[in-house]
Amino acid sequence: MNRSKIIVLVTLINLVFASLYFNACNSPDQLADKKEPFQSEIDSLVSSMTLEEKVSMLHGNSKFANAGIERLGIPEWVLSDGPHGVREEIQRHSWDPAGWTNDSSTYFPTGTALAATWNPELALGTGEALGEEARARGKDVLLGPGVNIHRSPLCGRNFEYMSEDPVLTTAMCVPYIKGVQSKDVAACVKHYALNNQETNRTTVDVQVSERALYEIYLPAFKAAVEEAEVHTIMGAYNKFRGVYCCENKYLLKDILRDEWNFKGVVISDWDATHSTVDAALNGLDLEMGTDVASYDDYYFSKPLIQAVKDGLVPESIVDEKVGNILRVMYKTKILGASNREKGSYNTPEHYEAAYKVAKESIVLLKNSKNLLPIDQNKIKSVAIIGDNATRKHCEGGFSSGVKAKKEVTPLEGIKNLLGKSVKINFSQGYEKTSELDNFIRITDNTLNEELLNSAVASAKASDVAIIFAGLNHDYDSEGLDKSDMLLPYQQDILIKAVAKANPNTIVVFHAGSPVDMSSFSNEISAMVWGWLNGSEGGTAIAQMLFGVFSPSGKMPFTLPVHLEDSPAHALDSYPGVNHSVNYTEDLLVGYRWFDTKNIRPLFAFGHGLSYTQFTISNVTVDKNVFAKDETAVVSLNIKNDGDFDGAETIQLYAHDVESSVIRPFKELKSFKKVFLNSEEEKTIQLELPVNNLSFYNSKTKTWELEPGDFKLMIGNASNNIFETVDIQIK
Ligand code: GLC
Repeated sequence: MNRSKIIVLVTLINLVFASLYFNACNSPDQLADKKEPFQSEIDSLVSSMTLEEKVSMLHGNSKFANAGIERLGIPEWVLSDGPHGVREEIQRHSWDPAGWTNDSSTYFPTGTALAATWNPELALGTGEALGEEARARGKDVLLGPGVNIHRSPLCGRNFEYMSEDPVLTTAMCVPYIKGVQSKDVAACVKHYALNNQETNRTTVDVQVSERALYEIYLPAFKAAVEEAEVHTIMGAYNKFRGVYCCENKYLLKDILRDEWNFKGVVISDWDATHSTVDAALNGLDLEMGTDVASYDDYYFSKPLIQAVKDGLVPESIVDEKVGNILRVMYKTKILGASNREKGSYNTPEHYEAAYKVAKESIVLLKNSKNLLPIDQNKIKSVAIIGDNATRKHCEGGFSSGVKAKKEVTPLEGIKNLLGKSVKINFSQGYEKTSELDNFIRITDNTLNEELLNSAVASAKASDVAIIFAGLNHDYDSEGLDKSDMLLPYQQDILIKAVAKANPNTIVVFHAGSPVDMSSFSNEISAMVWGWLNGSEGGTAIAQMLFGVFSPSGKMPFTLPVHLEDSPAHALDSYPGVNHSVNYTEDLLVGYRWFDTKNIRPLFAFGHGLSYTQFTISNVTVDKNVFAKDETAVVSLNIKNDGDFDGAETIQLYAHDVESSVIRPFKELKSFKKVFLNSEEEKTIQLELPVNNLSFYNSKTKTWELEPGDFKLMIGNASNNIFETVDIQIK
């Protein structure tokens, strides 16, 4: 027998032994369990259900729950908003509040504020606290985080989401989800996908290139599934390439199930389901909120039973959907366990968790005359001006609103901090002369001279003037976008008048999306972004302004000089025409546009000042030539040269020197927040798996890393790079 035949024979014998060994080690049950935990329990439950019982689990039986099967010990599955606090109790069958007295919750800083901390540990802490609050309120699924990318400064829900950048959004949503789910509550990453505007949100059809889809809009969802193992995901209202997201095979099966191996539950946004057979065959599991007279009329109610009976939907598909829900019930200890997390709410620990985020979220945009921090021992009086000094924001924004037991306003925070040591002269300055009713906003922008004059007088009579300006949930809201970036209520006139009356004027913006500051930014020497900042927002902003701590927040989105500088507006590709929007800026979202087109923003992505100064030195990379599966390690020294303890976020951006495809000038690839006491020095490392330098090749449907030169740009803002190191990919 010749050599090649012997090789073939030996190989065959090995294959036979290998398969015998594999089967011997894995009984059918073990094989099944190897596939997915709880599978045998799930299979036996599903096989004992009638078709009617199975289908009853696949649609709402009330506003925020779907049916259980009492005879099998399966309870109702209870869902609740929202991303920054457990929503008040809603009536079972209407959107009206239930009017309970024990349904207040902790109000956490909203998504953009959390992202502005650039601190994933705080995202974990927020998730854990939210999970405990959800459990204490008897909830099984928390409908958050919202991770849609900020494509336009006008999107009403930017405040709920995190950033214009996929790497920052990913870095913050993964620990948030892990935190929530560590408390036996399912998180629900939303809104999948391309829900980047509120204008015509239930009908708009989004067109976007495959590269932008994979490089910008999907990464956070992919990481939520693959890294955080999110238990549920919410199908968005809009269409994608002509098909509603909640029946979109490409999104719900090809990408979510086949590429990412998602094993959880696809939940529709409320009233976002549009069919029975298409939705059932293309991946929707649970239909919620459909606006029909009776629950029997839901697409996944009697019509689904009929579709199965008519052979249009195989019962095995229904079994899969029920199995997905049961799997999450097992994983969150609703079934099969007796030690499920009990939770707690409105506790000092949770207020502390909210405070930590609020504290690290505040961004010092400008401080050119070192007006900040204010030394309370050197002043006798301070003018506190503006509607946002006293307004509570917790309940606004529609579905993400929170009935907070506690929300410290900036004025309260300052009073608590200063006590009687400094005279506080409060004046309204401007009034919220807008109303938002059923997603319609009416604003009266008439200047209120009386309020203006009393604010000017108050500023004149005080050593320092602080204006709490910005937006509120008449503007930062679900259901409609802003119509421009202008500050409402003539705030810019107020700001200029007060600054004229008192050169020691500071402006604090409370908002979740950009505003136009161009008419006064040169005249104001101190500007702060204070977010919609949770139960302890007022405590944190007071402490920052009066120097209890140094600010460390960094902008998670660009603040343009003018709206038309922003990509979607420069290209007139927002909000679309005839309910169709084409993302023609493609990959150049946010700073990617400003950098690549050399447009100067007012304040850049990643920008944020400190009360102390940091010196970066000795930036090195462990080597200069890398194979594709290696990791570059950038090391550097950072020293706190100032008097304040503080924190700096070192950002690593990558620039592809030469590429066969168009690439943004630079892209955030890694970052690290470093805490340093005064005079303290540390050496830190930033790791970059060089595969992360790949681009998505839509022809081969793979991530491709082209050999060649790259520049790794190290800075503390996207427009403040202090060192560049060259590397080469073999
Ligand atoms: C809303 C929102 C979604 C929310 C759901 C339930 O329309 O789009 O984020 O979780 O309905 O309130």
